[in-house]
Amino acid sequence: MLSLLRRSPRKISLLLCTTAIAVSSFAQAADPIVIKFSHVVADSTPKGQGALLFKKLVEERLKGKVEVQVYANSSLYGDGKEMEALLLGDVQMTAPSLAKFGQYTKKLQVFDLPFLFKDIHAVDQFQQSDTGKSLLKSMENNNITGLGYWHNGMKQLSANKALHVPRDARGLKFRVQSSDVLDEQFKAVRANPRKMSFAEVYQGLQTGVVNGAENPWSNIYSQKFNEVQKYITESNHGVLDYMVITNTNFWNGLPNDIRTQLTVILTEVTEHVNSEADALNQKAKQAIIDSGSSEIIELKPEERAQWVKAMKPVWSKFEDDIGSDVIQAALNVSK
Ligand code: LMR
Repeated sequence: MLSLLRRSPRKISLLLCTTAIAVSSFAQAADPIVIKFSHVVADSTPKGQGALLFKKLVEERLKGKVEVQVYANSSLYGDGKEMEALLLGDVQMTAPSLAKFGQYTKKLQVFDLPFLFKDIHAVDQFQQSDTGKSLLKSMENNNITGLGYWHNGMKQLSANKALHVPRDARGLKFRVQSSDVLDEQFKAVRANPRKMSFAEVYQGLQTGVVNGAENPWSNIYSQKFNEVQKYITESNHGVLDYMVITNTNFWNGLPNDIRTQLTVILTEVTEHVNSEADALNQKAKQAIIDSGSSEIIELKPEERAQWVKAMKPVWSKFEDDIGSDVIQAALNVSK
């Protein structure tokens, strides 16, 4: 203390200043790493549940080191904006539908091809195959790293008109995600596709801007689409799944031990989401039946065959972009 007093006032203030900087950078170092996880669906859906479980496990196991903030239902960014935000570093994780990556890679369009996967188990097998895993890395040049696939489920067609055969869809306006394949899929049955962000769909259906849509049961029920769609055809014609993604620079810049622990947690969450997704969808389907809001149409085999015949030609239009090897790999698991 005495030696401090003997120093000149300038030296003392310098010393205090240096101490203040040291204290504040210590405080900064102790601040948790914040992961903002933004998505567009309800908490009750497979993705919503996955994001919340990820938050819970991270905050239990990396207490004080990592904090996860989940923003559901397009409350922070709607689709279109969430990937931009990820690239700008405004959010650190998100899980867009596989239909929404067209701007960054054409290969993921394989998941949108109608009637390619016979069910969600085939989708799962493809995602776990070498080709499926390699697609997680297909956007690293764009600073996007795929951390895993989360299921939602197979899509069902809904409309304000009963859809039994492709002819019934003629001239109707269908909302589609931002995917050129899905656009072509509806054109193939002479319907009019309209790209629209998820947050706008309810109003679009309610006001007649669009007459129909395609969604897994969990999205239909949690967004109340069934209240504005009189008919739902159980078509299972395609899949709506997700890629959990992060900003590559953010991810690679994390301390090694933190990245390793986050990877372990995410693997656990992925297993949980993927084992529960089908049950959540069946529960949502049952809730729609119980509500009596919509008539559910089951397709006879010969009706389904007509949809397949009308929509399958879409594949060849995208074969060059996707790569026939990728399509073949997906077909191999569906055999
Ligand atoms: C959609 O836009 O229909 C879906 O991608 C929403 C979602 O994330 O499930």
